[in-house]
Amino acid sequence: MTHDTATHDLPAYPLPRRCPFDPPAEYTERRDDHPLLRVRLPDGTPAWLVTRAADARAVLADPAMSADATRPGFPAAFPAVAVLASLPTKPFFLRTDPPGHDEQRRKVIPEFTVRRVRAMRPAIQRIVDERIDAMLAGGAPTDLVRALALPVPSLVICRLLGVPYEDHEFFEERARVPLATGSGPAEIRQAFDDLRVYLGDLVARKETDPDDGLISGLVTRHLADGAMTREDVITTSMMLLLAGHGTTAQMIALSTVALLENPDQLAALRADPGLLPGAVEELLRYLNIADRVPARVALRDTEVGGVRVREGEGVVIPLGVADRDPAAFTAPDTFDVRRADRHHLAFGYGIHQCLGQNLARLELEVVLGTLFERVPGLRLAVPADELPFLPPVGLHGLHELPVTW
Ligand code: HEM
Repeated sequence: MTHDTATHDLPAYPLPRRCPFDPPAEYTERRDDHPLLRVRLPDGTPAWLVTRAADARAVLADPAMSADATRPGFPAAFPAVAVLASLPTKPFFLRTDPPGHDEQRRKVIPEFTVRRVRAMRPAIQRIVDERIDAMLAGGAPTDLVRALALPVPSLVICRLLGVPYEDHEFFEERARVPLATGSGPAEIRQAFDDLRVYLGDLVARKETDPDDGLISGLVTRHLADGAMTREDVITTSMMLLLAGHGTTAQMIALSTVALLENPDQLAALRADPGLLPGAVEELLRYLNIADRVPARVALRDTEVGGVRVREGEGVVIPLGVADRDPAAFTAPDTFDVRRADRHHLAFGYGIHQCLGQNLARLELEVVLGTLFERVPGLRLAVPADELPFLPPVGLHGLHELPVTW
């Protein structure tokens, strides 16, 4: 395969989804001939796009593929990637390589084990019940994003980290900036700066007034003995606060739409609530709301799917494209809550695989199970093709979700 010098003829990346559930056909329909597709990033530079599931796993597991966004050639698929990489402060460990990545990740792993997360079920159920009580009391129609999808993960991550929920509008607003159409680098930088100052103050408060939250734990266990710097604690807290609420919120919103738009699947789920854990896995595969996040840059010449990737070339791994690969899933474009195959890539793969996946799964199970049980008449309040979907600059999802019952 030749290497392009001109990029104007290449398909753009990222492209918006034409159907809110399906990855762009421009990428999936060329999978047979192109294990790697040459694409054009918003800044005009080329990158490789991985179209097959097996290659996506291989790239994500390959130590020669760096997640360090400050390296030349790292694909800036949307403005927040470049802004985060340009900040003078330490990067999120999501965008770093070993050994630094592993050291920072190890400090927070204990908070996210299956056992620790399972213990949060009663608290999460209480949060969901209270939000649904409030939503029903407020009357229909309502915006499900504001009423439920966003507050639940925000409340949960606040509780886990020890962030006061009364500050939720402040951090939710800042988290929205990088995902909004037209946010320029200066606005995005300001949003990250605001969050850093806020979390810096919070960390200082935990030093004199500790609690049982994760941030306080990092302060007392690791800041005190020098294993983490103040900046490490702030950076890790910021990444968890950001990654911990917007992702799950968009999964709740888009899952609700997918189930309402597939009434046979919703009926199957209602008839047999035992299908719920499998349905959550299928929703994660089918919707893949964070599939634009994984990107890497080659540290040395390497081969992917028989194609040579040269040192310094960028690779994007849209997981939604991989999770529709017929070599990995039977009838991959069908949404089937009874699907037995659960080896999807929606949480990534390899050393950067999602740290919060157990928590996200539990929140999704509790929210979706409770919502469709307690609000049996739930339906969209506007036609599905009028729903305001987010622009292709970060996560897939919705600005708002008008529903009635
Ligand atoms: C349904 C919701 C979620 C989805 C679909 C999702 C998806 C992902 C994906 C695809 C990655 C890998 C990125 C890469 O390889 O470049 C990732 C990493 C990560 N996620 Fe999630 N995520 C979700 C929820 C959460 C939650 C609730 C938290 C925290 C409480 C969280 C924290 C993280 C962290 C810290 C990483 C970086 C891990 C590392 O680099 O070692 N995520 N997530």
